[in-house]
Amino acid sequence: DWTMAAFKAQAIARIRDQVGKGRVICGLSGGVDSSVVAALLHEAIGDQLTCVYVDHGLMRLGESEQVVSVFRDRFNINLVHCDASELFLGRLAGMTDPEAKRKTIGALFIDVFEAEAKKVGGADFLAQGTLYPDVIESVSVIGGPSVTIKSHHNVGGLPERMNMKLVEPLRELFKDEVRALGRELGLPDDMVGRHPFPGPGLAIRIPGQEITREKLEILKKADAIYLEEIRAAGLYDAIWQAFTVLLPVRTVGVMGDSRSYDYACAIRAVTSTDGMTADFYPFDMAFIGRVANRIINEVKGINRVTYDVTSKPPGTIEWE
Ligand code: XMP
Repeated sequence: DWTMAAFKAQAIARIRDQVGKGRVICGLSGGVDSSVVAALLHEAIGDQLTCVYVDHGLMRLGESEQVVSVFRDRFNINLVHCDASELFLGRLAGMTDPEAKRKTIGALFIDVFEAEAKKVGGADFLAQGTLYPDVIESVSVIGGPSVTIKSHHNVGGLPERMNMKLVEPLRELFKDEVRALGRELGLPDDMVGRHPFPGPGLAIRIPGQEITREKLEILKKADAIYLEEIRAAGLYDAIWQAFTVLLPVRTVGVMGDSRSYDYACAIRAVTSTDGMTADFYPFDMAFIGRVANRIINEVKGINRVTYDVTSKPPGTIEWE
């Protein structure tokens, strides 16, 4: 569209002006904001940009492959794909407490990112997908909640620690404008329209229990089926977020003529405008039944599916 084309041209000019011949590093997560920042910077400064994708092994099925294929193969961006799953899963071993998981993942993420940045020779600038609502929120803490519900995964301390200046080309934009800019830059629709996904990834969707590769594999398969059905039913864009939670309980079932004793999972879907409040999505029961059947039949390790009908408040969107 015309206004976004104009914004894009202006943003590119500003980036060139700020960066000059400097080198820029951008943390890529596969989410909308960092993807748009990466594509925009690439168009502005080409090979002066290096993207670092820290793969903690807690991403959904096919997600890491998509990031690599879009940014490295299609866009030809300098991309470091750091597979750090051994490191993350090793550090998480035996850990069951939600805050312990979040803090461990957040701190390790920063360490790995910093190490990868050093390996490529460092940079003068760090690019971040800060949006207008983030700018507002960070100055209006007065009156905000005084208790920490969840410690969010963010990389706020990184620029000072690494002595880099910030490039934040999305600071004036709202989410829908970022999506429009992404389309303007030629990012694939499914990337631009993607639901939010939490920084700690699937670790917080295996609540109250130890995270193992086996459980991750089970969860990834169930989640992929659920999202496939949501897309096939044309419901993806009407939903803020939809995901599967692997429960820390095994239940008895009957498969054919034998007994099963496998995990139960919950499926969750909510509508929201900003993630601060949310309502559970009122699927029709036939849809839920279809998803449950597919998960139980196709995913070895799950024999029971429940639907989470909790809104926020009193629940949070994620279970941990
Ligand atoms: P909750 O579970 O607190 O989540 O209702 C609100 C929204 O935030 C997402 N979320 C996160 N996003 N880092 C993120 O970038 C995090 O650590 C994190 N934890 C939750 C959640 O998916 C929902 O969209």
